[in-house]
Amino acid sequence: MRIPFSRAPLTWEKASPYLKRAIDNGWLTTGPLVQQFTAGLAAFLETENVVPVSSCTAALQITLAAADLKAGDEVILPSNTFIATLETAELHGLTPRLADIDSDTWNMSLESAEKLITARTRAIIAVPFAGNALPMEKLQALAKRHKLTLILDCAHALETRYAGKPLHAYADFSCYSFYATKNLTTAEGGAIVCAAESIERVRALSLHGMSRAAWNRYAGGTWRYDIVETGFKANLTDIHAGIGLAQLAELRQNHERRLALAARYEQALSDLPVRMQKLTDDMTNASEHARHLFCISIDKNARADRDAVIDAFREKSIGYSVHFIPLYEFSNVKKLHGFQEVDFPHNAEYFAGALSLPLYPTLTHAEQDEVISLLRASLAYAAAT
Ligand SMILES: Cc1ncc(COP(=O)(O)O)c(C=O)c1O
Repeated sequence: MRIPFSRAPLTWEKASPYLKRAIDNGWLTTGPLVQQFTAGLAAFLETENVVPVSSCTAALQITLAAADLKAGDEVILPSNTFIATLETAELHGLTPRLADIDSDTWNMSLESAEKLITARTRAIIAVPFAGNALPMEKLQALAKRHKLTLILDCAHALETRYAGKPLHAYADFSCYSFYATKNLTTAEGGAIVCAAESIERVRALSLHGMSRAAWNRYAGGTWRYDIVETGFKANLTDIHAGIGLAQLAELRQNHERRLALAARYEQALSDLPVRMQKLTDDMTNASEHARHLFCISIDKNARADRDAVIDAFREKSIGYSVHFIPLYEFSNVKKLHGFQEVDFPHNAEYFAGALSLPLYPTLTHAEQDEVISLLRASLAYAAAT
């Protein structure tokens, strides 16, 4: 790929001192670098209650257990998300109910979600899509009104803020991803932020349900430990934490760069027949999009087929993606739950034209201009033929 879809803000020069420490000190797995990475994350997210884990998928699994959700409970989630949001609910024996998206923000529509609430509903799993906040006060009020646990799948939303606060401030549990393409990566990794009263339980669940982490045991504790409940093996390693530490200091600056590039796309594409993601209506000036992804949806009146535009991207070796194939499109999901496209008109309309453009801190203006020109040319060509 001449212009890849994503490029991690990471170099060997930046990562090697951390990796050297992780290997030379002999820990390799969960040790002092994880502790340092967790402290950095806690400072960035303005909380003391962070548990690092091996992926966002693991974070979701642990969260469903820590939230005491039981087989047969219903959970509401958006149709426009990655399979991990759904599969973890399935594996936990929950009954998923899918809400359509809002046609402007492409996040879960709160109206659609509220209609799905029944006497068996126990939780909402909301996904700030691409890093765009939902109307957090309304979402929180909805969950409170119906006594539902509010879980955020913040895989895209590390830097997202709403009314001056990080998103986790509105939720019971928030799950983050440090997958290779994310704004901050540990190659594979994730984290859970939750209330202080749940933190020890979450920590135990992330390591076999052990009453205290191996790190504490080795660092001067006793050999004795207890298993307090059935847990998972989902601890982050020092090797992964080292990769994350190499980016932490530049996280804010990298986010600024993402914001600037997204603003540049918005301006350059404003006269094209494409829809762009709108910020939540009641977002205030103190709110911020993480700009993990820059997604567009080619207008249905554009007379341009999204797949023809994708062909042009492939031909020029310019990276692209589509976020997301809606959950109701997958054969296994259809088979298990019987969801049908007709029940998700807004998601279906968005998806028909959906295309995600390259967006990352090292994308140069020249590269971005190439992406913009190609999109412009392929839309014009499609409209003329
Ligand atoms: C919305 C969403 N949730 C969950 C995940 C899973 O993250 P991980 O790969 O860290 O398990 C992803 C991954 O891309 C995602 O986009």
